[in-house]
Amino acid sequence: MEQRYAILTGAYGAIGSAIAEGLAKQGFVLVLAGRNADKLEKLTTTLKHNTGNTNISYHALDLSRRQEIENFARQWDQPLDVLVNNAAATPRSREETPEGIEMQFATNVLGYYWMIKYFHPFMERRDDARIVNVASYWAGDMDLNDLEFTSRRYNNDTAYRQTKQANRMLTVAFAEKLADKNIALLAAHPGDVNSKLSNNLGYGGWESPQQGAATPLFCATNPSLKGITGKYFENQTQTPCRFSQDKNRSKKVV
Ligand SMILES: NC(=O)c1ccc[n+]([C@@H]2O[C@H](COP(=O)([O-])OP(=O)(O)OC[C@H]3O[C@@H](n4cnc5c(N)ncnc54)[C@H](OP(=O)(O)O)[C@@H]3O)[C@@H](O)[C@H]2O)c1
Repeated sequence: MEQRYAILTGAYGAIGSAIAEGLAKQGFVLVLAGRNADKLEKLTTTLKHNTGNTNISYHALDLSRRQEIENFARQWDQPLDVLVNNAAATPRSREETPEGIEMQFATNVLGYYWMIKYFHPFMERRDDARIVNVASYWAGDMDLNDLEFTSRRYNNDTAYRQTKQANRMLTVAFAEKLADKNIALLAAHPGDVNSKLSNNLGYGGWESPQQGAATPLFCATNPSLKGITGKYFENQTQTPCRFSQDKNRSKKVV
């Protein structure tokens, strides 16, 4: 069997660490991406021990910053079969990156966009290359005129729902853009899991991280999905997406 390569962002988060374990168990050469090197190191050691997969490493970077993602890609010297965009933030008050971009938009939307932009060239000519955008059913009310809450009052839940709508629109737009390169794009709602992200939004979560990881893992690896692109999944089932109808609007996001 040919070796397969994967990158997962937000790897030590609640859902991320369960996705990481699933990918490690399936034998991927796995690179865990996140911003805290100590947590990445710890997770790498644990996964190697628990799964017996020794091809696990990590890369520490801030996914809200374009230059750090571009540098990460510059150092990449292997093919890539699976990219799982999972990292997201929900700060309770409005924050900006050093570049002056609102933090949720930078991390949850542009972070996904830049990972796709800089890493998709490594996925060309691979058999069954897939990009999975971890999105949410909790999505909507995007205001294309005020994506960064400069004229509206910031509310972290409203900002989050807007970014999760954008994840689903990005999936449709990039699916079309990368179709001729044979790279599939899928969006996945993971499930309601207790995490820093959900706690910031005022929620707990009734599903386990493993349950939350099941649909992103299904989208990333299940052989039955080969050739399917631009679709949205909940509970490991292709689900109609109300943000996918207007392709021209989706294209505005890319
Ligand atoms: N939990 C739910 O109920 C739920 C429901 C629907 C969808 N989702 C989606 O599932 C995904 C994972 O969420 P989760 O619940 O597992 O949240 P989580 O535990 O808070 O994990 C989020 C991860 O993203 C990382 N991250 C945030 N900002 C970053 C940055 N600038 N650079 C690098 N890494 C960054 C976090 O690192 P730090 O800890 O260092 O900040 C953390 O590892 C998200 O895309 C979320 O929208 C979750």
